[in-house]
Amino acid sequence: MTRLARFILGLLIALALLTWAVSGVVQTTTREWFERDVSVHAQLAMVSATRSMADAWYDPEGLQKQLDAIDRNQHVIGVAACNADLTTRSLTPDLPEDFRCQEVGVRVRILNSGVGGANPKLQPWSTIATLPTGRVYVAAMPVISQGQVLGFVILAHDLSYIERREARAQTFLLVVFGILAVLAFGVPLLVARRVRHDWSMEVRKLMRKGGKQPREFQPILSDVRELVARMAEEREDLAGHWTADRLKQVLNRNLHGEKIVILANREPYSHVFAEDGSIEVQHPASGLVTALEPIMRACSGVWVAHGSGNADRETVDRNDHVRVPPEEESYHIRRVWLSDEEQQGYYYGFSNEGLWPLCHIAHARPTFRAEDWAYYQQVNQKFSDAVCDEADSEDPIILVEDYHFALAPAMIRKRLPAATIIAFWHIPWPNAERMGICPWHNELLEGLLGSSIVGFHTQLHCNNFLDSVDRYLETRRDREQNAVIMHGQKTLVRPYPIALEWPVRWVDSAASPEECRARVWKDLGLKADALLGIGVDRLDYTKGIEERLLAVEMLLERYPKYRGRFTFVQLAEPSRTKIARYRDLNEAVEALADRINERFGAADYRPIILLRSHHEPPEVFRYYRAADLCYVSSLHDGMNLVAKEFVAARADLRGVLILSEFTGAAQDLTEALIVNPYDLVRSSNAMAVALAMPEEEQHDRMRSMRSMIGRFNVYRWAGKMLMDAAHLRNHERLSGRLTEHVYDSSNI
Ligand code: F6P
Repeated sequence: MTRLARFILGLLIALALLTWAVSGVVQTTTREWFERDVSVHAQLAMVSATRSMADAWYDPEGLQKQLDAIDRNQHVIGVAACNADLTTRSLTPDLPEDFRCQEVGVRVRILNSGVGGANPKLQPWSTIATLPTGRVYVAAMPVISQGQVLGFVILAHDLSYIERREARAQTFLLVVFGILAVLAFGVPLLVARRVRHDWSMEVRKLMRKGGKQPREFQPILSDVRELVARMAEEREDLAGHWTADRLKQVLNRNLHGEKIVILANREPYSHVFAEDGSIEVQHPASGLVTALEPIMRACSGVWVAHGSGNADRETVDRNDHVRVPPEEESYHIRRVWLSDEEQQGYYYGFSNEGLWPLCHIAHARPTFRAEDWAYYQQVNQKFSDAVCDEADSEDPIILVEDYHFALAPAMIRKRLPAATIIAFWHIPWPNAERMGICPWHNELLEGLLGSSIVGFHTQLHCNNFLDSVDRYLETRRDREQNAVIMHGQKTLVRPYPIALEWPVRWVDSAASPEECRARVWKDLGLKADALLGIGVDRLDYTKGIEERLLAVEMLLERYPKYRGRFTFVQLAEPSRTKIARYRDLNEAVEALADRINERFGAADYRPIILLRSHHEPPEVFRYYRAADLCYVSSLHDGMNLVAKEFVAARADLRGVLILSEFTGAAQDLTEALIVNPYDLVRSSNAMAVALAMPEEEQHDRMRSMRSMIGRFNVYRWAGKMLMDAAHLRNHERLSGRLTEHVYDSSNI
């Protein structure tokens, strides 16, 4: 039923109820009036009639004449003159049987006191009765002569005409109410529909491309378009699962298939020399790469990155391009070369000894050196230039990834003012006070505000960023849109929690969990009844690897039954090894593992197995599938995709994820066992709980987390950002056009 039909039906029901209530009141009231009227008139008539009847009482003919005269009144049904002993003296023929002398007499109170007494007590009496012919009013009145009661007169008065009048009044009322209702509701409704129709015709005309826009419509026109775009986006967002194809469609539909340019320090594929001198392709251990590579495969375009593999130069063409993925070749990498000094100052120095510890609460002291800052600026410019060279239009879509390129958005904007630049910060953003530690915090903020959108994993990091902007820069805040306006340039600040492709391609090609388990058991030399925990990280002090191993030690200390049975394997890829803090960590982790192994190990049992080398994704997924638990113990982490990968790998719904509360992932994967990694007792408890968890509970938790990461996958992540970008782009195009139009004097 349409909304209008529902409205009219409701209106009619309300109207019927109202009419029913009003006509009820009217009926009772008018009936009372009429009946009172009739009784007064009847009694008056009887008073005068009884006087003349008393005179003619002993004259039967005269008495009959008087009765006939009264009976001629059209509303009188019948009259009777009755003796005091209730016999009939005279009557008209139509007087109803029920109201003749005998029947009425017994109801008149005088009759109790005898007939013809000296003190007549005969009282007037009346009643209203319903006969098959209709309602009647019946009255009796004594006939008295010289103080003597001669008898009484009965008069029956027809009331059925009152009912007829009532019915007429009700019909009249209904008609009047009906007309009033039509006038009261129908006319405004028709007027409103007409106005709406005219309005929407007008708006439709305006929405059509190239239509002349009257000035009064200009302010609302952008709002209408915005609303239409938002509704389309919402439909887009709500319906069904996000896939690579769907992302491609969004790009084509909303961004007209423009090419995407990604700027990230880390390349998705690097080429390295193998020991035999051949060239191998490697997938770097990087959350950023894990997330963005499927996007690039879906959308195609170019990925601008540092060429860090030792065989990278051998594999590029003369434009420093290489087509990837191998065998698929759906997009290309543009490699940018850095000198050792640049690499040292920009990557190791400013990015990883300055910004990395600044943004992570992991108790490493940030180091900011002026020379590193100079290289950071220089390298940001170098990469920005490469990005602009790769752009094939005036307004390309450019994704700037991570803390290595805080200055790039403003640099790119300078060369390509119409570009849509989305900067995504993959690590936490510290609070404003802490940001102030960086001597160049203003420059970093201004650089990022060259973007159209700045994204973080969580709302908390957005808030920290906005607080930093408020604290250090002269800008305007659009709180409605969560945007910052600086020098007329608007930047949206939004949370986009990063995710995985779905399905994850490494899972599709992985062996069954049983096969993976058998292979891992063999590789690690585990006993048949062994239990396996796993950790997968770059060797980074933010990952809480030491705390993780200490928790394993505490588990073995507090739960002796797991000694000799539980093994924790740590896949640790050496990372940023030119930085002393990372080298120290490597040594500390090794020493810790040795100590625990010495304390609880045996000839055929090692509680901790450290595998410190690069592992390609198929191998990592084999470990995920073999493990009984996975412990992600980051001290601070923007998101942490290892946690999501472990869940993605467990199509068998087995295994338990233990997850640090200090990761962005803890907000998404709420069915994991969430722990504070500094709390070793609770963390070791969580491991014990995981190892003893009934299979059914493991299934329930896994099922729920898998459904979450399946729905909120990386295509949705990118799709949301691209749709926001499209929306912004549309808005800017429109407001540009509107501005021109408003100030075009021929139009005024
Ligand atoms: O997780 C944060 C992050 O910087 C990623 O964004 C990056 O890909 C990863 O760490 C690896 O770091 P790097 O590129 O320095 O090896």
